[in-house]
Amino acid sequence: MKRQVLLFLPVLCLSYVLGQVSYSIPEEMVKGSVVGSIAHDLGLDLKRLKSGKARVYTGGSVEYIGLNKERGVVLVHERIDREALCGEMTPCALHFQLILENPMELFRVTVEITDINDNTPSFTNTEKRFEISESAVIGSKFILEKAVDSDIGRNGLQQYTLTPTDHFVLKLENQADGSKKVEMVLQKPLDREKQEYMSLQLTAIDGGEPQMSGTMRIFINVLDVNDNAPAFAKPLYRAKIPENSPKGTSVATVSASDRDIGSNGEVSYLISTSKRLLSELFKINPRTGEIILVGEIDYEKANSYQMDIEVVDSGGLSDSTKVIVDVIDINDNSPHINIVSKSEFISEASPPNTVITMLSINDPDSENNGKVECNIDDTIPFKIQTTLNGFYTIVTEVALDRERASEYNISVTCSDEGVPSLSSSVTLTLQISDVNDNEPVFERSSYEAYIVENNTPGVSVFTVRATDADWNQNARVSYILEDSSVNGVPVSSYVSISADSGVIHAVRSFDYEQIKDFQFRVKAQDGGSPPLSSNVTVKMMIQDQNDNPPQVLYPVQTGGSVVAEMVPRSADVGYLVTKVVAVDVDSGQNAWLSYKLQKATDRALFEVGSQNGEIRTIRQVSDKDAVKQRLSVIVEDNGQPSRSATVIVNVAVADSFPEVLSEFSDFPHDKEYNDNLTFYLVLALAVVSFLFITCLVVIISVKIYRWRQSRILYHSNLPVIPYYPPRYSDTLGTTGTLQHVYNYEVCRTTDSRKSDCKFGRGGSQNVLIMDPSCSGTMQRMQSEKSILDEPDSPLEVSNLGFKSRVTC
Ligand SMILES: *[C@@H]1O[C@H](CO)[C@@H](O)[C@H](O)[C@H]1NC(C)=O
Ligand SMILES: *[C@@H]1O[C@H](CO)[C@@H](O)[C@H](O)[C@H]1NC(C)=O
Repeated sequence: MKRQVLLFLPVLCLSYVLGQVSYSIPEEMVKGSVVGSIAHDLGLDLKRLKSGKARVYTGGSVEYIGLNKERGVVLVHERIDREALCGEMTPCALHFQLILENPMELFRVTVEITDINDNTPSFTNTEKRFEISESAVIGSKFILEKAVDSDIGRNGLQQYTLTPTDHFVLKLENQADGSKKVEMVLQKPLDREKQEYMSLQLTAIDGGEPQMSGTMRIFINVLDVNDNAPAFAKPLYRAKIPENSPKGTSVATVSASDRDIGSNGEVSYLISTSKRLLSELFKINPRTGEIILVGEIDYEKANSYQMDIEVVDSGGLSDSTKVIVDVIDINDNSPHINIVSKSEFISEASPPNTVITMLSINDPDSENNGKVECNIDDTIPFKIQTTLNGFYTIVTEVALDRERASEYNISVTCSDEGVPSLSSSVTLTLQISDVNDNEPVFERSSYEAYIVENNTPGVSVFTVRATDADWNQNARVSYILEDSSVNGVPVSSYVSISADSGVIHAVRSFDYEQIKDFQFRVKAQDGGSPPLSSNVTVKMMIQDQNDNPPQVLYPVQTGGSVVAEMVPRSADVGYLVTKVVAVDVDSGQNAWLSYKLQKATDRALFEVGSQNGEIRTIRQVSDKDAVKQRLSVIVEDNGQPSRSATVIVNVAVADSFPEVLSEFSDFPHDKEYNDNLTFYLVLALAVVSFLFITCLVVIISVKIYRWRQSRILYHSNLPVIPYYPPRYSDTLGTTGTLQHVYNYEVCRTTDSRKSDCKFGRGGSQNVLIMDPSCSGTMQRMQSEKSILDEPDSPLEVSNLGFKSRVTC
C-alpha cells in the first residue's frame, strides 16, 4: 500500500480549522486496514485525542473511514468501491473532519481512493449474428457492439481484437465523445460455396495488471448468390443403344451440378443441336437429364449420333456437353439374293465346273450379322462357289445326265452369321437339254419267236422293241433287219421288219419239215446325229403242224403187183407175220403213229400191234384157213386232227411156194420176163446193199450230229413230247434201235418198162414179189424221191433208230 501524506496549509482562515491531512488508498481494501497515522500527521498526542474526544465527522454519509484513538490512526471502516463511489469521476476522494473538543479543534481529512483493475470489459450481448450476401463488396462495414469496463485509466478498456481475420478486419473509429466505434470490414470476398457459415470472436481487453478481457461471438451466415454456372460431370458421354429399340427407351442420362443452392442451383437440360433429325429421334427430360428415344433408329441408316446437350440454371448460367450415341447393329436384315445372270438350259454334255448361275448377295447388317454364307442342297450335282466379295457362282459339280434327271430345282439358301441367324433362299429351275448319248436298248438280250408252219406269207410274227433313254428325235428308234443269209438265202426273203413298229413279218410260208429254225439280227437305231444303234439276235422257231400223213414204207404198196407175206401153216400162235413200217415226217405227237387192223379176211387170225405195227397170228393156223388173206391196216398219227394212211397187207397161208402161186395164179406171168427179172433183181440187190451200207454210215454220223443238236434244242423251252417208236426199248444195249433190223430199199431203174423192184428184208423172212409191171411202183418211187430228195437234208424216217436215206 502506498501512502501519501499531504499537508495542506489552511487557505481559508477559519479559527477552528487548525490543519488538514490527506491520504491516498486503493479501493477495495479490507476492513481495518490502516489508512494513515493521523495523530502523528496532525501533531497531536494520543492524550489529546482522548481528552478531546476525537471523532470523525462525515456529514451524514457512509462512514467509510473510522478512527482508532488508542493508536492514533484512521482505518478502513467499510468496503470502498471506487466505481460505486465516484463512477468515472477522478480523482475520487473521501472528505471528512476530525473533531476534537476541549478545545474545540477541527481537522479536515481527505482520503483519495485510487482505482484498481477490478472490472472486466464486458459486452451486453454475448453473441451477434449477421447475414451477409456472398456478393458483398470488399470494404463493407458491419457495426459491432462496444464493450464496457467500469475501471478507469489504464484499468479501463484499452483495445479490441477479432479472430480469425481471413475475411474481416476490425476497425476502431474515435467518436466525438471519446469512445470508439467498433466495426468489422470485409477485406476478402465471401464464397458461400466454400464457407457458408463463419464464427468470429471479438475480444475486448483492458490495460490493468493483470489484464482482463471479455468476448463476444459473431456468427455470419453467407447468403447465396447465383455465382456458379452449372457444370456437366463429363465433357463427353457415350451411350450404346441397339437399333430398333422401342420408343421410350432410355439412352443415357447426363447430369450437371450447380454449386449454388435453392433456385440458383436449379438446372434444366435441353438438346441444343439444331438438326431436325436428332430432335425427332431423341428427347431429353429437362429436369432429370435422361435422354429418351422417341424415334426409330436403324443401324443401316446411321450407326452413330452426336448431340450437344445444354444445361441452364435459373440465372441463365449454362454449360454444354456432347453425347455420342452408338447404334448397336441387330441382325434385322436377311441376306438379299440377286440373280445376276442365269441359264435356263444346259446341255447334259457340259463338263464339270460349267457356270450356270451368278448371284450377288448382300446383307446390310454389319460384322457377323452381315457375313453371309450360301449353300445348296448337296444331293444335286451342283455346287456353289464364292468368287469376289458377295458374288457366288453355281457350277456343275459332275457330269450331268438328262436321262437321270431332266430338271433340277436348285434351292440356294443364304444365311448370315447373326444370332439368331437370318436366311433367305431362292429356287432356280434348270432344264437339262438332251444329247444323243444313249443307244436304243432292246427289251431282251435275245428273242425267240415262234411261228406255226404253213403260215400265210406276210403274217406278223413277233414284235421286237427297243427303247432309247434320250429325248425326242434322239429317242426315235427305227428297226432294221441286218443282212445275213439262211441256208444261202438272204434272210430278207424269210422275214421283214417294220421300221417304225418293230413288227417282224414272215415273208414266205414256212415248212417245218424243211427248216425248223433260223436266226437273224435286228438293229435298232435312233434318230440322233450321229445315230446310235444296237442289235439283237432273233431266233425264229418254226412249229410243226400235222400236215403230213403217215407214210407206209413197208409193205410197199404197188398198184398192180401183189406182195404177200408167207405164213407156214405150222406157225404157232403169235407168229410174226410181218411188220407194217410207217413214218411221219412231222414231229412230236404229229409223228406218233398207231396201227389198227381195219379190215381182214379173217379177223380172228391176225392182230396188229397198235404201237409197233407188228402183225401176228392170234391162233393156230388151220388147214381150213384160206391161203390168201388180205389185211387192211390203218396207220394214224397223233396230230390234231390226225392223219392216217391205209396199207393192204397180203398174207399167204401156205407151206410151199407152188401152193401160193396156184393161189395167186390169176396174176399174169411170163417165164422169160421172170428170168430177166431174177437177173436184174440180183444185180439191183448187190448195188442197193452197197449203197445202203454207205448210207448207213452217213446216216449214223449225221444222226449223232443231229442228236447233239436236238439235245441243245431240248434244253431250250420247246415243249417236248416224248415219242417212242414202236417196240422201242431202252433195255437194249443200243439206244434207239429196233429189235429187228428192218431194211428197205427203194430202187429206180432207168428203164421204167424193164425195171423191177424188190424189197428185201433181213432175217429169215421170205419175200414174194409178184408184180409183172413196175410202172406203178416207179411212179410212187418218183414221188417219194421228191420228198426225200432235199439236197443235203437226209430224210428222217423217224426220230430214233430207224433211219435211212436212199439215193438212187
Ligand atoms: C421343280 O419345281 C417345280 C415347281 O415347283 C415342280 O413342278 C417340279 O416338279 C420341280 N422339279 C423337281 C425335279 O423337283
Ligand atoms: C451287234 O452288237 C454287238 C454287241 O452287242 C456288236 O459287237 C456287233 O458288232 C453288232 N453287230 C452289228 C452288225 O452291228
